[in-house]
Amino acid sequence: MSAIDYAEKIPNNVNLVGDRTLQRALEHWQPHFLQWWHEMGPNDFEGADVYLRTAISVDAQGWAHYGKVRMPDYRWGIFLADPVAERKIGFGDAMGQAAWQQIPGEYRSTLRRLIVTQGDTEPASVEQQRLLGHTCPSLYDLRNLFQINVEEGRHLWAMVYLLHAYFGRDGREEAEELLARHSGDADKPRILTTFNEPISDWLSLYCFTYFTDRDGKYQLKSLAESAFDPLARTCRFMLTEEAHHMFVGETGLSRVVKRSLEVMKEVGSDDPDRIRAAGAVDLPLLQKYLNFWCSSSLDLFGSEISSNSAANFANGLKGRPDEDQYEDHGLREKTLNLVTPQGASDVPMLNALNEVMRESYLKDCEIGVKRWNRSIERAGSQFRLSLPSSRFRRSIGAWAGQPVDPQGSLMQRELYEKSLASWIPSEGDKAFVHSLMQKVIEPGRMAGWIAPPERGINNLPLEYEYVKLH
Ligand SMILES: [Fe+2]
Ligand SMILES: [Fe+2]
Repeated sequence: MSAIDYAEKIPNNVNLVGDRTLQRALEHWQPHFLQWWHEMGPNDFEGADVYLRTAISVDAQGWAHYGKVRMPDYRWGIFLADPVAERKIGFGDAMGQAAWQQIPGEYRSTLRRLIVTQGDTEPASVEQQRLLGHTCPSLYDLRNLFQINVEEGRHLWAMVYLLHAYFGRDGREEAEELLARHSGDADKPRILTTFNEPISDWLSLYCFTYFTDRDGKYQLKSLAESAFDPLARTCRFMLTEEAHHMFVGETGLSRVVKRSLEVMKEVGSDDPDRIRAAGAVDLPLLQKYLNFWCSSSLDLFGSEISSNSAANFANGLKGRPDEDQYEDHGLREKTLNLVTPQGASDVPMLNALNEVMRESYLKDCEIGVKRWNRSIERAGSQFRLSLPSSRFRRSIGAWAGQPVDPQGSLMQRELYEKSLASWIPSEGDKAFVHSLMQKVIEPGRMAGWIAPPERGINNLPLEYEYVKLH
């Protein structure tokens, strides 16, 4: 069941040959995707041989094959996790009933919107990252970037498959639109704000993969609970790939911290100017990048109080990440105490699920921060990194537009506006970070602002030529 047919034009484990109409529709979309990759994918690296992993089965063990591939030749395909026999709906009002293999008519448009919104983020991130190859800190990092890019392309395929297979003509139109919107485009931007933010340096890339791909993990986890079984199975397999993206973010930021501490020791000072003069990222600067990307990603969870998320849960469309860990899966009786600028109040738990998800996401984000702080402490520095409050710099929800400092306290608006430049990267900070971004492409060598990783990819040495440039 989990074997993937690579003899097909579109590799898949969904028996595409058994449905000629669907197969033809997807084969019609395929060249449009490749054209999009050519125009909007990694700029200038189409001829490079990249050491990539490609999914060959959906088994937990050994699902990927590693080898040198030109990115345009990557075998993007459709892979669903194996079905769970007689799977039942695990939450909401229809809990205990059989999961759906087809979409009930009344949920069609809502499910389509959920799938399109998720699908839109996948090509968006590829577009955001398309110029980064020119400033890579090493071949190892370049390869990781490209691995993420091809997998986000595959995630687009995952959502397009669902649109084509279950939403008829509307779905095919949405699939075309996914290639027509572009990150940061004035006329046709991507749906969510974070996916229109430029990612023009690698510090931002590591923050994006740490914070924004982790939002992706939480969205996928909640959709993996869906009563609509094909969506649940699709998302379960996507999570396998997603883990690598967050690995890149977490280890990338760890290496930035490590290098920063080394330079502090070398120059015998933690004065940001001296760290910068020595070509490294000072910790207060890193804190600003964390503040920016964390707050931007927090908006992706939506409003604190949301009737949509209540309906999606009650109807079985979207659960909570790791629904199993909770006791109550109906939530009709529960409330949550929520603090908004208007004060504290108890709201029905069903309406507060975005906030529940945001809180568990923040806990997950804390894990890396604690680890970085341990290494900072070991190095003898008093500095500590932290996550901004979930009220800081919000554009969506109860705290949107409120003058709140990174610790979460309301303050005078004028002072807030003035202080903002000291909390998120200023133009000067960005210019400095950009000045560090010099391309390093000798195998095994590393840019001066980042420490080497602990190990190479797939047990290969760090000196391995992960990308062969032509
Ligand atoms: Fe993705
Ligand atoms: Fe991702």
